[in-house]
Amino acid sequence: MKSITILGSTGSIGTNTLDIVQRFPDDFRVIGLTGGSNVEKLETQIRSFKPRAVAVSAESSAAMLRKRCSDLPIEILVGEEGIAHVAAMPGAELVISAIVGAAGLVPTLAAIRSGKHIALANKEPMVMAGKLMQAEAREHGVRIFPVDSEHSAIFQSLEGHRLEDVRRLILTASGGALWTLTKEQLQNVTPERALQHPNWKMGSKITIDSATLMNKGLEVVEARWLFDISESRIDVLVHRESIIHSLVEYEDRSMIAQLGLPDMRTPISYAMRYPERMPLDLPSLDLTQVGTLTFCQPDHDRFPCLNLGYDSLRVGGTMPAAMNAANEVAVDAFLNGGIRFVEIADVIRSTMDAHVRRDITGLDDALEADRWAREKAESLVHALSR
Ligand SMILES: NC(=O)c1ccc[n+]([C@@H]2O[C@H](COP(=O)([O-])OP(=O)(O)OC[C@H]3O[C@@H](n4cnc5c(N)ncnc54)[C@H](OP(=O)(O)O)[C@@H]3O)[C@@H](O)[C@H]2O)c1
Repeated sequence: MKSITILGSTGSIGTNTLDIVQRFPDDFRVIGLTGGSNVEKLETQIRSFKPRAVAVSAESSAAMLRKRCSDLPIEILVGEEGIAHVAAMPGAELVISAIVGAAGLVPTLAAIRSGKHIALANKEPMVMAGKLMQAEAREHGVRIFPVDSEHSAIFQSLEGHRLEDVRRLILTASGGALWTLTKEQLQNVTPERALQHPNWKMGSKITIDSATLMNKGLEVVEARWLFDISESRIDVLVHRESIIHSLVEYEDRSMIAQLGLPDMRTPISYAMRYPERMPLDLPSLDLTQVGTLTFCQPDHDRFPCLNLGYDSLRVGGTMPAAMNAANEVAVDAFLNGGIRFVEIADVIRSTMDAHVRRDITGLDDALEADRWAREKAESLVHALSR
């Protein structure tokens, strides 16, 4: 029986994780859960999984939850501090990090510093402060298991091989909801259209990131730190079917890949029970049904955000954190009708152009770059808003 805490339990990854727990009640015990503002869903999860403590982001949500759960023996905490407290709570061996965005950095680091292994879905902290997170993980004897399907595929394709034999990593990209649109058509894309991902059901922020290909830019940075490999040895290949989840090319030009139907429960369960594989009751991949797998190069002209990820790594230091914050602000503005789809890349690029890079020597450097870039991006969004 493994004790786990789930950060972001009310989201898409959080819900999939709890689905696995429900299917394997003898294998996992839930110690802590955290949510943002979806109090109703969190209450349902509390009643089903009986954690010792939960945390939510705002005082108003905590007050509502306390009222709804007054008949239960549960500690309800609030704010970033409360979420970090639950993340570091004694008793859990593994923390599923599944908050969306920079909000996950402090809690995930708190979990690492308290010696808990991490199943990492929340890629943004790794983008903001990957070097720091890896250094802290080493210091505290913590393993970080990737949950992102691409990184899980690479992790699996590296098993049993020597890192020094790796020639390059190849991240596959579905291309997102708008891959077939022309540059002109992209000008008038609505949030509803951009949210129609062809293969994956995910939260709205990552779905827009997939449509801009910023998700792949973030994943390049994530891979750089997860696998300690320079960005010049990380390639991206568009593979619309999302069947090959990523590949590793070795020095002898062999390629090893991981395949499967697009279902996040596969990479989540691998991170939860590594090195064991869980007997998930999911449909098998039938390659005769799939028939053809297709591949092509990313189109940097229509989707400039992927290159921003590479650029941020070349500059280094606080630049990836600034890029990430600008992206969060721009995606939010697009979803709320403030800017156009194509302006997301403009906001990020202009924020990066204005950012003065500093070294990341500690958490405060990443947080300060995040704060600065949010302010800058907000002012750019304000200027663009009609
Ligand atoms: N979904 C996928 O298939 C997938 C695949 C690979 C990687 N990822 C990564 O996994 C992470 C989660 O993605 P998702 O799709 O599960 O997102 P999501 O469905 O939007 O869920 C996000 C979770 O974070 C919580 N949250 C939001 N803002 C918060 C804040 N300020 N403080 C504390 N909690 C907050 C939400 O709470 P409320 O809902 O209660 O407000 C929810 O529990 C992202 O980093 C994403 O890139 C996701």
